[in-house]
Amino acid sequence: MKTLLLLLGATAFCLCVFVAADQQADKSSPEEEEVLQLKKGNFNRALRKYKQLLVHFYAPLSGDGHRITVAFEGAAAELQGSEVKLAVVDVAKEKDLAKELNVTGLAAIKLYLSGDKYNPETCPVPQSSASILTWLKRRAGSAADLIADLSQSEASEELTVVGFFQVKTHLFNCPASHMFYNAAVDLPDVNFAVTQNNEVITKYGLTHDVVLLLKKSKLIQAYKMTPQTSKEMLIVFITVYQMDPATEYTGQTATQILASPVLNHALLFVNKSSAAFKEIHSAFNGAAEAFRLKILFVWVNVDEPRNGRLMEYFRVRDFEAPLVRLVNLTDHVTYHLPSDTLDVQTITTFCRTYLEGEAKPKMQSEPMPEGWDKTPVKELVGMTLEKVGFNPNKTVFVLFYLPYSTKSHALFPLWEELAEALKAREDVVVARIDASANDINMSIQGGYPALCLFPALYAERVVVYTGTRKVKDLVKFLDKEMAKAKKDRVKVNYSPSNINITAVLGSVCDYVCVCVCLLAAFKKKKEEFYLYVKNKLVSFASPGG
Ligand SMILES: *[C@@H]1O[C@H](CO)[C@@H](O)[C@H](O)[C@H]1NC(C)=O
Ligand SMILES: *[C@@H]1O[C@H](CO)[C@@H](O)[C@H](O)[C@H]1NC(C)=O
Ligand SMILES: *[C@@H]1O[C@H](CO)[C@@H](O)[C@H](O)[C@H]1NC(C)=O
Ligand SMILES: *[C@@H]1O[C@H](CO)[C@@H](O)[C@H](O)[C@H]1NC(C)=O
Ligand SMILES: *[C@@H]1O[C@H](CO)[C@@H](O)[C@H](O)[C@H]1NC(C)=O
Ligand SMILES: *[C@@H]1O[C@H](CO)[C@@H](O)[C@H](O)[C@H]1NC(C)=O
Repeated sequence: MKTLLLLLGATAFCLCVFVAADQQADKSSPEEEEVLQLKKGNFNRALRKYKQLLVHFYAPLSGDGHRITVAFEGAAAELQGSEVKLAVVDVAKEKDLAKELNVTGLAAIKLYLSGDKYNPETCPVPQSSASILTWLKRRAGSAADLIADLSQSEASEELTVVGFFQVKTHLFNCPASHMFYNAAVDLPDVNFAVTQNNEVITKYGLTHDVVLLLKKSKLIQAYKMTPQTSKEMLIVFITVYQMDPATEYTGQTATQILASPVLNHALLFVNKSSAAFKEIHSAFNGAAEAFRLKILFVWVNVDEPRNGRLMEYFRVRDFEAPLVRLVNLTDHVTYHLPSDTLDVQTITTFCRTYLEGEAKPKMQSEPMPEGWDKTPVKELVGMTLEKVGFNPNKTVFVLFYLPYSTKSHALFPLWEELAEALKAREDVVVARIDASANDINMSIQGGYPALCLFPALYAERVVVYTGTRKVKDLVKFLDKEMAKAKKDRVKVNYSPSNINITAVLGSVCDYVCVCVCLLAAFKKKKEEFYLYVKNKLVSFASPGG
């Protein structure tokens, strides 16, 4: 039996495909550098000249683009002397050209064929230089990928996608296999193989057209090809099962996560070094399997400083971990899992509720409740928090609570009591805010529930109360902080750094006559003061003064 095994392996890339000499090489032209630097002025000329022009549109200083630049440079080195001519366009400088070519996304790699400016093929965001080379090879339908032995890929750590098609004539005539090859072009980082090997057929009991995902000889998942299967469906299947059920967000996985066709992401923010990590991670993993193809499960270590930007984006503070967010990447709406416990059941229910459109989105601010300032405890929301809290005339004591947390609930009676005890105080406001439904846009330390005082006179100061939870102590704390704020405020007003010595002295006296207390206040600005005195004396002594 004739065995046909076709393995398109990113690692087993054969350079000889590209070794054909560049027919149009013209050493005298100044454009004959290894990689052309294209501008508005020479783009069309290059397009006319080269049958295959691979252009990297890059933006210097763009962080994410760096890896792609490295990959492109690596590929460029490998492709020297091939039929593919390489070029770069600095989109930051060549804005007009980028606009004319409809290049919008940053760091795009496009292949222009036969001078056609309008229909370039876009290279999938490459993981490495091998991705670019494999993509070029696959889209050209190279036969150099024929490999006669599947055992090699079966043993591989990496995923291999194996297609089995019942074809009578040539593989390319079968629509399913044709689609399979097209999927391979779009996924240059994945190994693809086609088999008609009897052993494989027997081993996996193949009777119909099927795509198998193999990793270390283990069958991960099988996808039955039907006439309804589209290339896109196949790609979704492969890219989803290529990843673990739950993936850690890291520099290496970020591209894969963001490029995933699954546009609902469940994000677990958790401290990897914490004692609870193992249990929570396992629950998250456990819930993930049932939502494959629908929700991508990603976890983020909040103890990793490099994840700071991601956490900032989702407005997650490390002390809030562990928590789960769902994000709809189509409309960028996020949803917060309203629970204290993170087990398989709560995560599963949350995901199901979300998919059914029943989850409540997390908002920057809830709408202002009617009569929010009429109750003894004022009901704040995102949009009123800063306005009320940072009022210079009122000291505001705010309870930040989570509506589903028993610890939070336990504090509600205390807060009512506090409001009652302080109701005669015009300069004090007792309030609370649901920290799960509103984005808290200020720096608050510690976990929720949090008791935070916003002292009057200070625009942006928040003091967290950590004492005993008794009204008497809360009032004592409030009075102490109010007195402190007043004192500090006085200090600020008279702080030497805020004083225009020239102006003050000028108004106080026309010649040197300064009281001792003022002198003490000017301690820090001694030099300036002496200088002033000296000048005054000079001007005093001089005929014009
Ligand atoms: C860019 O997009 C516009 C509008 O869709 C189209 O008219 C134009 O031909 C495009 N140009 C290129 C180079 O693709
Ligand atoms: C994570 O947990 C470890 C161990 O409990 C702790 O030392 C560390 O400060 C925590 N990191 C964050 C960001 O909370
Ligand atoms: C995600 O957002 C899109 C666009 O608003 C919407 O059509 C889709 O139903 C949303 N998905 C879920 C699961 O809510
Ligand atoms: C604070 O009090 C001053 C003086 O009475 C007043 O002018 C100011 O508008 C008040 N500020 C706020 C935010 O109420
Ligand atoms: C959050 O704070 C930042 C920085 O202070 C500010 O630019 C932004 O407008 C605030 N957003 C909301 C919703 O208050
Ligand atoms: C300080 O006051 C003097 C006199 O009124 C004025 O000329 C000078 O510009 C002021 N300097 C600053 C930094 O405000």
